[in-house]
Amino acid sequence: MEQYTIDAACAVDIVFFAGIEFDDINGKLILDIGSGTGRLSIASAYLKAHTILSLDIDIDALEILRKNITSLDLNNIIFPICTDIRLFNLSNSILSDEVQITTIMNPPFGVQERKADRAFLNMAFSISDVIYSIHLSNRYVRKFIKKYASKFDWNVDFVLPYTMILEKTYPFHDKSKKEIVVDVYRFKKNRV
Ligand SMILES: C[S@@+](CC[C@H](N)C(=O)[O-])C[C@H]1O[C@@H](n2cnc3c(N)ncnc32)[C@H](O)[C@@H]1O
Repeated sequence: MEQYTIDAACAVDIVFFAGIEFDDINGKLILDIGSGTGRLSIASAYLKAHTILSLDIDIDALEILRKNITSLDLNNIIFPICTDIRLFNLSNSILSDEVQITTIMNPPFGVQERKADRAFLNMAFSISDVIYSIHLSNRYVRKFIKKYASKFDWNVDFVLPYTMILEKTYPFHDKSKKEIVVDVYRFKKNRV
């Protein structure tokens, strides 16, 4: 599994992009799919998200998030959920129509496990009003992402090129920090 943690400053930058440039955080329901230790979730809480659901399969990462939620007094805003998102069905029917759902996610790039990002995109496309998703920056990925989104009747509205810093999490990560060039995609659903 590709488990690394986004550097805190990068998490803030990306959430600011969503919250300040596009007003997609304040008062919104945020889905942080593959939240890990929840840095994107915590940054969203400080930009006044209404509620944040932080989904991850890794109970140890969520335990770190839970401790941070308690120490930062964010218990009423961030809700960690331990689940395999390939099996999780967050139906629209249990969510309020009145609150916009913004997904903000840093999925596995699909390098360790091919196509690992698909389940994340599938879930986001099925339930969100707007999506921010971080992917490796290269021509092949850009082409794939655009085509994949269009199959779900979504389109790439904006691409922010960004140099992200990753922190070492597992022994197979050979450096303590690593810079990686990514694209942060903003997706919008095509109008009917
Ligand atoms: C690249 S890490 C990003 C972690 C965090 N969002 C961050 O930016 O620091 C991807 C996360 O997806 C989670 N993940 C991978 N496959 C998953 C699955 N099938 N269901 C739920 N979470 C999954 C991993 O446990 C990991 O925390």
